[in-house]
Amino acid sequence: MTRISLALAACGLMGATLANAGEVEVLHWWTSGGEAKAAAALKQTMQAKGHTWKDFAVAGGAGDAAMTVLKSRVVSGNAPAAAQIKGPSIQEWAREGVLANMDDVAKANKWDELLPKTIADGLKYKGNYVAAPVNVHRVNWLWTNPEAFKKANAKVPTTWDEFFAAAEALKKAGITPVAHGGQNWQDFTTFETVALGVGGADFYKKALVQLDGATLKSPTMEKVLTTFKRIKGYTDKNAPGRDWNLATAMVIKGEAGMQFMGDWAKGEFLAANKVPGKDFGCVAAPGTAKAYTYNVDSFALFKLKDPANQKAQQDLAAAIMSPEFQEVFNLNKGSIPVRLNMNLDKFDECAKTSAADFVSTSKAGTLVPSAAHGMAIPSANEGAIKDVVSQFWNDDKATPAATMDKLVAAAKVKAQ
Ligand code: BGC
Repeated sequence: MTRISLALAACGLMGATLANAGEVEVLHWWTSGGEAKAAAALKQTMQAKGHTWKDFAVAGGAGDAAMTVLKSRVVSGNAPAAAQIKGPSIQEWAREGVLANMDDVAKANKWDELLPKTIADGLKYKGNYVAAPVNVHRVNWLWTNPEAFKKANAKVPTTWDEFFAAAEALKKAGITPVAHGGQNWQDFTTFETVALGVGGADFYKKALVQLDGATLKSPTMEKVLTTFKRIKGYTDKNAPGRDWNLATAMVIKGEAGMQFMGDWAKGEFLAANKVPGKDFGCVAAPGTAKAYTYNVDSFALFKLKDPANQKAQQDLAAAIMSPEFQEVFNLNKGSIPVRLNMNLDKFDECAKTSAADFVSTSKAGTLVPSAAHGMAIPSANEGAIKDVVSQFWNDDKATPAATMDKLVAAAKVKAQ
């Protein structure tokens, strides 16, 4: 066989022929240990189909840096095939007319039947699918180091009183109670969890989904802000600027006792070969056991000109929703499959709790979108609120009263 026919045969075996093998350029921000393992699963899936994977990773937790780079690429007419975009931002991008219609792929693969309706609706613009979802992350978790708790003779908290008692005990034992990374999105992540835990799901929805002024400036919000700020006293002096995965590493090593973070943190524990229930614990953050802040990672698909690349893009969208990919990706990422009725036998207890709570909170009306992770509100409001929350966290002179006025103003910001 000639070299070319050999290559053709190999491509045929892998599912694509040279004639229709294309390239997918994929923008994401999955650069930590656990995230990178999950991203590799996507790359391998595409390569197995004979396509070329062009990695477009932009480091930076929660993707703020990635979104800035994406904007400049799209403005210059050079969009990637897919970009990690979620929540209301999908609609913002679709309104610009730059996203591709994935209805053929969605129909052929029965996405409407395989996705929870609220999630499917968010992936459509004017009734057409423009994005494909990979997972469901739960944000309202508290990660713990059992060894540290044992040393401090502390009890894993389920209420805020218990939380501060445990934090005191850890501090006395010479362990940093709360591993935190002082970046605005991490401050906001902790803040929304406190809002849910202190105020409950109805308060959360009014404040951080409906952006209701009377709720953003209310006695409950004052309590949320005070509780949030009290946590800062239990973080270490090196917290400012620290990346979230380095904060997780502190819990992994037992230097810190707890971390508030979504379950992408579990990906870090697993990548470090730690066993849930033994080496680390996952518990719903204080007061939030019967509620769930969800964060669905999805890839928006951009309009492309090259037919081979369009085919590769469609293969990507189809692969993302396949049961095989949903399993391997989510086992690494710390999240759960977004595809309904998946077998979760290979998943750990944290994931099983997450899956059960996703269903029960959905029935109870306490399943809420994460505001800190782009699921709840327009990006302009999210950015403005995030800044207010972070200023309050960082400025020891900032008062809850003045901060609430700023929150009300941030809720009124309109996109430029
Ligand atoms: C994303 C996760 C990611 C995390 C940290 C979140 O907004 O949904 O996929 O792991 O940010 O970067």
